[in-house]
Amino acid sequence: MCGIVGCVNGQSTVDRVADGLSRLEYRGYDSAGIAAGGDSLSVVKRAGELDALENALESEPISGTVAVGHTRWSTHGPPTDGNAHPHTDCENNVAVVHNGIVENHRQLRTELEADGHRFESETDTEVIPHLIEAELEAKQPPEAAFRAAIERLDGSYAVACVISGEDAVFAARQDSPLVVGIGDGETYLASDVPAFREYTDQVIYLDDGEVAVLRPTDWEISTVDGTPVEKSVETVPWSPEETGKSGYEHFMLKEIHEQPRALRQCLRGRVDELGGRIEFEELSRLSPERLHLVAAGTSYHAALYGASLFRVAGIPADAYHAHEYALSPPPGEALVVGVSQSGETADTLAATRAARGAGAETLAVTNTVGSTLARECDHVCYIRSGPEIGVAATKTFAGQQTTLALLAEWLAADTTDRETIAALRSLPSDVQAVLDNSRSEAVAESYLGSEAYFFIGRGLAYPVSLEGALKLKEISYEHAEGFPAGGLKHGPLALVTEQTPVLATVLGDGEAARKTVNNIKEVQARGAPVVVVTDGRSEADRYADHVLRIPDSEERTAAVLANVQLQLFAYHTAAALGRPIDKPRNLAKSVTVE
Ligand code: F6R
Repeated sequence: MCGIVGCVNGQSTVDRVADGLSRLEYRGYDSAGIAAGGDSLSVVKRAGELDALENALESEPISGTVAVGHTRWSTHGPPTDGNAHPHTDCENNVAVVHNGIVENHRQLRTELEADGHRFESETDTEVIPHLIEAELEAKQPPEAAFRAAIERLDGSYAVACVISGEDAVFAARQDSPLVVGIGDGETYLASDVPAFREYTDQVIYLDDGEVAVLRPTDWEISTVDGTPVEKSVETVPWSPEETGKSGYEHFMLKEIHEQPRALRQCLRGRVDELGGRIEFEELSRLSPERLHLVAAGTSYHAALYGASLFRVAGIPADAYHAHEYALSPPPGEALVVGVSQSGETADTLAATRAARGAGAETLAVTNTVGSTLARECDHVCYIRSGPEIGVAATKTFAGQQTTLALLAEWLAADTTDRETIAALRSLPSDVQAVLDNSRSEAVAESYLGSEAYFFIGRGLAYPVSLEGALKLKEISYEHAEGFPAGGLKHGPLALVTEQTPVLATVLGDGEAARKTVNNIKEVQARGAPVVVVTDGRSEADRYADHVLRIPDSEERTAAVLANVQLQLFAYHTAAALGRPIDKPRNLAKSVTVE
C-alpha cells in the first residue's frame, strides 16, 4: 500500500530514490513520482506503472541533494498524473509524499482554501504541503513548520517531505511503517527496508508519533513536539541478493522455490531431535487457556490451519478475520495471536490493539522484524521466511503454517513424539521433492478456459483449499472458490458442471480423507473434472482425472506440501494467461488502511 522512499546525501539522490521505488513497487503501482530538492524543488510524477515515471525522468531529468519518491495505490482520487505524489504547495517550495489516510482532510482543505491556497488534486495528501506552506508564511523555520503541520493531521500516515533550501528530509509516522537507513555519508527513509538495502543494512524503525529529520551524516528522532527519542540502530538480517529475482521470471515463482530454504530457517534451532522437544528461544513460557488467532487474507488461512492444530493439541482456539474481530472482540480471556507476514496490516493491528485495550495478552507471528505488530505485541515469534516481494504470499504461508505447527506442539507438551519431529524435520526436503516433480504446469494448462475452479478439502485440507482458491483468483483473475468439502451439498454443488474443475485436497487415509472421497464422487457424478492433490494413501486417486502427488507425510506437514502444488497450479494458470503475476490488479502487498 503505497511505498515511500527518501534519500539525503548532499550529492545526487534521484537515481537512488528511483531505484528504491522499483524495489517497493509491490506496495502499489498505479502512479509514481519523485521530488528532488536542494536550492529549489523539481517534481516529476506520472500515472501508471513505474516505467512511465522512468521514461518521464529520461526526457525531463531532475537532480537534487535530497529527494523523496512515492509509488501509489490509490485510496482518494483515481490514479492520474495530478493525483500522483509528491504533492506540492502553491509556490512549489514544499513537496510531500504520504502513505495512509488524512481523515480530517476535508475540514483542513476548506480552511486552507479560505486562506487562499489553491489545490491541484483530489487527494487527502495535498493538505499537508499547504499546511506546511501556511506555517512557513507565518515565519516558522522549516522543521517547526513540518511539526506544526503534522500536529494538525488526524488519521494514519507515513509522511516524507522536502522543503526548498533545506538539505534534509522531514518524516513522520502514525500507523504506517517507516524505517530510516544509515549509510556512509547518506541517510535513507523508506516504507520497507528493500528500498535501500543495497546501500546499507543499518536501520532505525520509527514508532508511531515520531518525527525524523535526516541529513547526510546525522539524523534526529523525536516526538512531534520535539522531545528527543533514543533509538537503537539495528542490523538487517538478510542480504540485498535476497530481494532480486535470481533468474526466475517472477518473484512469485522464485519465492515458491525458496520454500525449502525458508522452512529450514524457520525450523533451525527449534526442533531438538535428540531431546524430542520443540524450542522457541524468543518466547517465555506461555500457558494460555484459550487462543484467538486474528489475521487477514492468506494469513487468515494460516490462522485457520493453526487453530485446528491448537485444538488437536488440547488448547481451545479459534481463528478470526481480523477486520471482524476488531469490531467486536469475543468475550473471555484469551491469548490473542496476530498472524501477519508484513506485521503492518491495518486490520490485524486493529484487532490486536482492540485485544490489548480489553486487557488481553498478545503474540505476534510475523515475518517482519521491527514491524508494528512485532513491536506492539507482548510476545513475538518470527516465521523467518526472508523478504517476500511478490504480492501473492507463498513462502510466508508455508512459514506461518510451520511456525504455528511448532507453536502448537510447544504449547501443548514438554515432549513431542518422534514421528512428528521427523515429519517437521523432513519438511524442507519434502517441499523440494514437490517442486522437483510437480506436474502442475501440464495440469493447469489442461484446464485453461474453465468457467470457474472450485477447491475442496476437510480438516487441515480445508484452509489449504481456501488458500489455493485465493492464490488462483488473485493472480489469474479466474473465478475460484474454496469450500469445506462437507459444505458442497449445502449449496455450492449447484455451481458444479463439466466446465468447473474441482481441485480436491485429500490428506492421509483417515475419516476426513474418506469423506472427501465421497464428495469427489458427488462432483464427478455432475460431470466435473477432478484434480486430486494427495499423498496417495486414500482411494482418491481412483476418481481423479489428474493427480498432483505429494510425499507421504503426517497430515499437518502434508497440508504444507499440498499447498505447494496449489501454488504452482495457480502460478502456471496465471502465467499461461499472461497475467502480471507479481503485481495483480487492484492489490498491494501491504494493506495499511482498513
Ligand atoms: C494474498 C495476500 C494477502 C495477505 C493479506 C494479509 O496472497 O498476500 O491476502 O495475506 O493482505 O497480509 P499480512 O500477512 O501482511 O498481514
